Amino acid sequence: MMIKFLLLTFLVISPISIRADKDLMVKECHNAKAPSICMQCLESDPTSVKANPVGIAGIVINCLNSRLQNITKNITDLLSSKEDKGDMKKALEACKKDLSTEATTKLSEAKTGLKTGDYDKAGLSIKLALGFPLSCRVSLKNVKFTSADLFTQINLFGQLSNAAMRIIDRF
Ligand SMILES: *[C@@H]1O[C@H](CO)[C@@H](O)[C@H](O)[C@H]1NC(C)=O
Ligand SMILES: *[C@@H]1O[C@H](CO)[C@@H](O)[C@H](O)[C@H]1NC(C)=O
Repeated sequence: MMIKFLLLTFLVISPISIRADKDLMVKECHNAKAPSICMQCLESDPTSVKANPVGIAGIVINCLNSRLQNITKNITDLLSSKEDKGDMKKALEACKKDLSTEATTKLSEAKTGLKTGDYDKAGLSIKLALGFPLSCRVSLKNVKFTSADLFTQINLFGQLSNAAMRIIDRF
């Protein structure tokens, strides 16, 4: 009887709780200026449905990390196709260095902050990480470098960073 009851409870509760967790993803992304990029990130990770808000923030940081690596890769590709040693090349090299070292370090500090419950530090680290691609965009524009694709990737990184900061702000 008890087992039947438990089984029934399980059957009744589990689909609801899975839906509730999808609701949590929607809720966590809702306050972002760009909810769709936040949802796209969470949907790319099958563990999202089982994650609590801190877990969701961690998944968003993983997506940021993946985006950062892709941007760095793109800059590397652009560099290998540039023969000249002019200002553009210098600016791209400085960007590559900042993104692959400083920004990457800040994102890993953000993850550490989440793990240790130091949410202020986690939020600040994301803000500092975002500073690097943003200043990169400025310095590339200053040397008249244009790549709609690269700038789009940087904008998306910015939107996802803002989503992460808003999620963490509420902890
Ligand atoms: C990074 O690039 C890889 C390979 O192109 C792609 O599969 C992945 O989805 C990209 N990551 C993000 C967050 O866009
Ligand atoms: C950047 O990488 C993406 C795949 O991650 C690719 O679709 C895009 O064309 C690349 N852009 C540049 C400017 O290399």
